[in-house]
Amino acid sequence: MFRPTLLTLLLCATLPAAASDNQPFAPSYLTVKEGKEAQLKQFSSPETCKRCHPRQYAGWQGSMHSIAFIDPVYQAEAALGTVETDGATHNLCKGCHTAIGTVAETISYDSETGKFGGFTTQGVAERGVSCETCHSVSATNIEHTAMGEHGNASLELATDRIKRGPFDDAKARGHKTEYSELHTRSEFCANCHNVFNPVHGNFPLEHTYEEWKQSDYAKADIQCQDCHMVPVEIAVRVADEMKPVSELEQHRLSGQAARGGPVRSVVHDHGFVGGNAVLAPLLGVEGAEAHALEAKTRLQTVAELETAITETDGKAQLNVTVYNRRAGHDLPTSLSFIRQVWLEVVVEDAQGKTLLRSGSLQADNSLPEGTVVFQDTAVDIDGKPEHKPWKIARFSVENSIPAKGSKTVQYAFPMPAEGQYQVTTTLHYRSFDQSVADYLLEEKVTVPSITMSTLTQRFEGARLLSSDNTL
Ligand code: HEC
Ligand code: HEC
Ligand code: HEC
Ligand code: HEC
Ligand code: HEC
Repeated sequence: MFRPTLLTLLLCATLPAAASDNQPFAPSYLTVKEGKEAQLKQFSSPETCKRCHPRQYAGWQGSMHSIAFIDPVYQAEAALGTVETDGATHNLCKGCHTAIGTVAETISYDSETGKFGGFTTQGVAERGVSCETCHSVSATNIEHTAMGEHGNASLELATDRIKRGPFDDAKARGHKTEYSELHTRSEFCANCHNVFNPVHGNFPLEHTYEEWKQSDYAKADIQCQDCHMVPVEIAVRVADEMKPVSELEQHRLSGQAARGGPVRSVVHDHGFVGGNAVLAPLLGVEGAEAHALEAKTRLQTVAELETAITETDGKAQLNVTVYNRRAGHDLPTSLSFIRQVWLEVVVEDAQGKTLLRSGSLQADNSLPEGTVVFQDTAVDIDGKPEHKPWKIARFSVENSIPAKGSKTVQYAFPMPAEGQYQVTTTLHYRSFDQSVADYLLEEKVTVPSITMSTLTQRFEGARLLSSDNTL
């Protein structure tokens, strides 16, 4: 008879579930339709689709989705996880970063390559979140998740080569099609854009979908697709008019979804641009520069700054308010404990003497102590700061800015006895701290920063004389 010992009980409490019918690739929730065995040859390469869907291909190529498996930051961290957890995180990470490689079981780990070892695979499995990954999705597995929510790749993939998508009347010569309402909703993205840590009570490490669900955007029926599958100008209109794309006047997104196909009212961009302008250019993949440029433009549409000065007994107090105007979720979102959105504030008197300086990058590209960073602080089970996802048990501080919300921060400086002075307030973004790049990447990469918003103002006493927000 099986008697649980203290050791087995401890193991059960900390280790994620073993493979089962509902979870053949545990701890990920990926399954294959009808429990079939998947093979790589059942999925085509993006180049196969390019012939008839050049527009979708051009958008996808060079996107973060296209590099999800080869991304060196991913590779390094996933390898470290494999070493530190004895393989327990292996299926978890790859379930989202290469779902096809996971179900076809074609990923190998070699401890000799890369900084902490490296992963290799073949063909379409190497292409990360590819056309076939998304368009083979036949259902969500939310009903099987321990979290009761979408996440950890809670997706069912079909091997029947039918392409699921938004049209209920598509007639394609190249393949069969099937209407899928799921593809038009945020719940589709949620299966991968909610990450839970199965090692620590399914702690929600990344919760972009949950943030969206609580926002005004969800109430207005604005889906992830309405911002991330359209050009920036349209995403800005969606956020300002608070209407989904289909209700915008003159969005000019109509066209052919395929060569030889009918004209559709909306054809979607496939670049899925967020904030990352580092990785794709680093890899030199085609289309990367265009995506990086668009990420920069997107970041520059998100936030607005506002300041106010008050004076008591020769001491000035500066209040800076940061508004999240146009992100459909927190700013920053997802890797909210890694991404950095921070304030730089410089106050100088008429002679150019510095009265206050905060948040200016140092020579080694690090942020000085005391910088205001809108970020969550991740800690392990003992409350110690921790960045490795599998060790994170909770967030000790939550300081990201909710959708359509704001955060106000206070600074103090000595009020000049007379004359004008200048206050420069800048909001910056970068994908990760320099120390994270130094730790994970083999080659030295200087992490670039992007200026999201800036305000240059002249004051005399508490009176505002001029204000300029041109970037
Ligand atoms: C539920 C799906 C999911 C799982 C499971 C998952 N990831 Fe991710 N991962 C994502 C998404 C989505 C992003 C993009 C988030 C963003 O850029 O804001 C991402 C981004 C990353 C990045 C940042 C890449 C970059 O270039 O900035 C790293 C590193 C990473 N994941 C590592 C891992 C590791 C290691 C594991 C396993 C312990 C893992 N992921 C498990 C979905 C997942
Ligand atoms: C991250 C998932 C994802 C990837 C990767 C992806 N698609 Fe899509 N695709 C979607 C979603 C979601 C829609 C539907 C959007 C809607 O209607 O709201 C869509 C729509 C489409 C459509 C219908 C017409 C349109 O553009 O709206 C076609 C055709 C298509 N995709 C082809 C492709 C091809 C070809 C690739 C690879 C080059 C690809 N997709 C990669 C998610 C994806
Ligand atoms: C020989 C040409 C051809 C090839 C190759 C091709 N498609 Fe299509 N596809 C079409 C046509 C035509 C349509 C219908 C367009 C319409 O009705 O607007 C279509 C429709 C679609 C749709 C929409 C389905 C729906 O019901 O909403 C998706 C998704 C799609 N294709 C994905 C892909 C993917 C992924 C590949 C590569 C594996 C691919 N296609 C390869 C011609 C092709
Ligand atoms: C099969 C899993 C999967 C699905 C489905 C998926 N994503 Fe992703 N997404 C990822 C991963 C993994 C990354 C990060 C890739 C990397 O590490 O380089 C990512 C990256 C992104 C990024 C870029 C983030 C950045 O830092 O710039 C955006 C934006 C994005 N996804 C939006 C979406 C939207 C919108 C949908 C739904 C229409 C969606 N994704 C569906 C897995 C997925
Ligand atoms: C109202 C428009 C809007 C909607 C709706 C929206 N986003 Fe975003 N998203 C943005 C903007 C703008 C950014 C860039 C600023 C930032 O990083 O938050 C962004 C950034 C991102 C990033 C990159 C975050 C980072 O810094 O690494 C991911 C991933 C992402 N979105 C996924 C999603 C998903 C998934 C959904 C749906 C649940 C969604 N978004 C809904 C506008 C939107």
